[in-house]
Amino acid sequence: MNPISNINDSRITVGLDIGSRGIKCAIGEIKAENNNVKLLGVSEMESAGIKKGIIIDRDVLIDRIEKVINSAELMADEKVTKLSLSITGNHIRCINTQSAISLNHTNGLSNGIKEKVIGDSDILQVLSSSQSISLPIDRDILHTIPQEYSVDMLDEIKNPVGMIGRRLESKVHLVTAATTAMSNIANCVEELGLTVENIVFQPLASALAVIDEDEMELGITLVELGYTTTNIAVYQKGSIKHSAVLPIGSKSITNDIAVMLQISIKEAEEIKIKYASALSSMSSSDLMIEFSKTFKSKSASISENEVSKYVEARTQEIFQMVFQEISKADIKDPLTYGIVLTGGGALMRNIVPMLEKTFSIKARIGQSIKIEAAKDIADGPNFTTCMGLLLWPLHTKDFSQLRNNQNKSFRGILKRIRHTIENMF
Ligand SMILES: Nc1ncnc2c1ncn2[C@@H]1O[C@H](COP(=O)(O)OP(=O)(O)OP(=O)(O)O)[C@@H](O)[C@H]1O
Ligand SMILES: [Mg+2]
Repeated sequence: MNPISNINDSRITVGLDIGSRGIKCAIGEIKAENNNVKLLGVSEMESAGIKKGIIIDRDVLIDRIEKVINSAELMADEKVTKLSLSITGNHIRCINTQSAISLNHTNGLSNGIKEKVIGDSDILQVLSSSQSISLPIDRDILHTIPQEYSVDMLDEIKNPVGMIGRRLESKVHLVTAATTAMSNIANCVEELGLTVENIVFQPLASALAVIDEDEMELGITLVELGYTTTNIAVYQKGSIKHSAVLPIGSKSITNDIAVMLQISIKEAEEIKIKYASALSSMSSSDLMIEFSKTFKSKSASISENEVSKYVEARTQEIFQMVFQEISKADIKDPLTYGIVLTGGGALMRNIVPMLEKTFSIKARIGQSIKIEAAKDIADGPNFTTCMGLLLWPLHTKDFSQLRNNQNKSFRGILKRIRHTIENMF
């Protein structure tokens, strides 16, 4: 049976996450009754042609992307033609901005004129003007995410539609990225005849998959431990406050083990996955790990506890950098829900107890919400970005991408933004 195409099929949603370690694809079916997604197919292959989010061999990367998508198509029995794509890298920056528009100017002079209520077009206008920041020629706005509105002296308004006032102010979180990095990665996918509908900064996609509304309200930070990057998104009062990329990931732990034991990266990676503990006090001093001595061509051994001491030190260093980033977020109250971990690095043994003991912060591994599937697939931290990409077209709060969506009529866009704003908090 030939798989059917999803080109005009709005019930199918597809996510493609091109990581430095693995390329992952997920295909899902939208459940109209609750806006959840039923997972139909997933696939993952080792990455090739990309490093730290930057393409180093285009042909090799395209070939690998094609294989990953084909394999997910086979499992889902659906033909992919459009998808949402993740992006990360050192070139991504975030900034919080605010802008204001005036409303009802004539009312000061009039008497008895009924004041006009704030409508969708005012929201569009104020969000558009919040995008007017000066950007270098090689940089573009990737996301424009509303945080809150003020009407005259009233702050922290979640949805000002229907209110009356003289001045409407919006606070937004802008994510910018290098134009060439975005187009190069999208071109690789489009070369395969596919349409890239959305490009999404990785932690924002992951957050959709694992953070619920209560957690966003009371404060939580998503930390995505990838292979060469650590992506961060801080949420409080129902909206994103800060996001960032650190150019260090789980690969640095592998490198430490390789250098320390003088073994290959491949062997060090195996030892890390099988034995390493992020909290050395929870590892065994009696369990000896055999490894090959590359240069002396004889085997040697080291205890699990000894390896874990190095792993713990590096993991702590990464989290010190994470906490420095969190401190840049303009938040006054503590993060009630602490940290939610995603990315393959979150599979490191005892990473949650390490965070709780060393940094006295609440932590948990992210588990997918709104995804209907076998728990072991949907909850794999290395697949979280893909799960978020599946949900992105349904639940995004991103004004830029809602507006840029050429397939939607202006009226349709307004409706979606309004719907988004209503569901935002
Ligand atoms: N059980 C495990 N214990 C420790 N680390 C693990 C485990 N399983 C996977 N990892 C690590 O997860 C990392 C891969 O994570 P992930 O798939 O999120 O990376 P990526 O998305 O390809 O990278 P990036 O997002 O940085 O481009 C690898 O470094 C791998 O060693
Ligand atoms: Mg990743």
